[in-house]
Amino acid sequence: EIVAGEGRVLLPGFVDLHTHLREPGREDTETIESGSAAAALGGYTAVFAMANTSPVADSHVITDHVWRRGQEVGLVDVYPVGAVTVGLAGEQLAEMGTMAAGAGAVRMFSDDGHCVHDPLIMRRALEYARSLDVLIAQHAEEPRLTRGAVAHEGPTAARLGLAGWPRAAEESIVARDALLARDAGARVHICHASTAGTVELVTWAKNQGIAVTAEVTPHHLLLTDARLETYDAVNKVNPPLREGSDTEALRQALAAGIVDCVATDHAPHAEQDKCCEFAAARPGMLGLQTALSIVVETMVRPGLLDWRGVARVMSERPAEIVGLDDHGRPIEVGEPANLVLVDPDATWTVQGDDLASIASNTPYQSMTLPGRVVGTLLRGRITARDGVAIAPGAPVGGR
Ligand code: DOR
Ligand code: ZN
Ligand code: ZN
Repeated sequence: EIVAGEGRVLLPGFVDLHTHLREPGREDTETIESGSAAAALGGYTAVFAMANTSPVADSHVITDHVWRRGQEVGLVDVYPVGAVTVGLAGEQLAEMGTMAAGAGAVRMFSDDGHCVHDPLIMRRALEYARSLDVLIAQHAEEPRLTRGAVAHEGPTAARLGLAGWPRAAEESIVARDALLARDAGARVHICHASTAGTVELVTWAKNQGIAVTAEVTPHHLLLTDARLETYDAVNKVNPPLREGSDTEALRQALAAGIVDCVATDHAPHAEQDKCCEFAAARPGMLGLQTALSIVVETMVRPGLLDWRGVARVMSERPAEIVGLDDHGRPIEVGEPANLVLVDPDATWTVQGDDLASIASNTPYQSMTLPGRVVGTLLRGRITARDGVAIAPGAPVGGR
């Protein structure tokens, strides 16, 4: 039904390695159903649901639920991310094997669930992950350096009196876990790379032959801490918005393939958690429906990526990293297709209230952005068309 019009671009369906859906626990801000609609509208056919739900996804009971519920909704494949550890202190390894073998077939585990303070635990987790041939996604934050921090440590935060979050809080963990992964022969994936120094460390590690991969968020490609001037808590995020030298390094690294892919870190939050004082607000911003447009704005328009490159960073590389063989590649004749059709010339104006997420905390409110998703296909079925998500069994009408 979707006909490629003039100038439209057909790409493999996007794969997001880092999505926060809030089910179970905070269904007032996002559910697997509402988040799946946002994903389909953003051009995604697979998303990885991060483990920091409530309760944390540290057992197969939760990871299996996330997978099954995603399949029931049927708008996007929702792959559960398991927590590396169990327990509030995060000092005991989770039963990763049971989660990997469950209905959810977990292939990625993260410390973005229970914070793992102890490097010995992370070393054992990497060894365990290696034995299961699964990935560890490292949130890359040294909590002893970010205690009380709310914004990037730099001139802007200093002037505004906001407690600073140093680049070293990220970079020290990137360096540490690249070395631990080397010794364990394991694969580690760096979540939301946000600094020029992280780019240098990932470059070094890859040159050593260490199996490290990295993602960057759309907001860390576009936005800087200049945004803090307004004190608007919509701009509060972990890791924090950095400086122009960082966004520039991240764009160049994504173009060069040093940073492998774009991941949204889509993080819905309730209005009351975002409209308070900056220091008290929760970190995170919506990302699924705006990701493509931000990639067009920051990478395609300046000539850093062509459309082949967009397919690489939004679909092909993320699918490869987690071993999805039905995503991110050309389809064989007769095979059910995971595809997205994009109008690269269309622009649209973001309205938080119109997004499919229950929450509306977008940092791009009222901005006019380039690049629009015209339609999305999951295994040959239309999941989104002209701005309307279409659930299985629903009458195919739309606008
Ligand atoms: O800003 C963030 N929000 N960063 C994270 O790592 C977690 C996320 C969330 O869950 O809200
Ligand atoms: Zn994180
Ligand atoms: Zn996250």
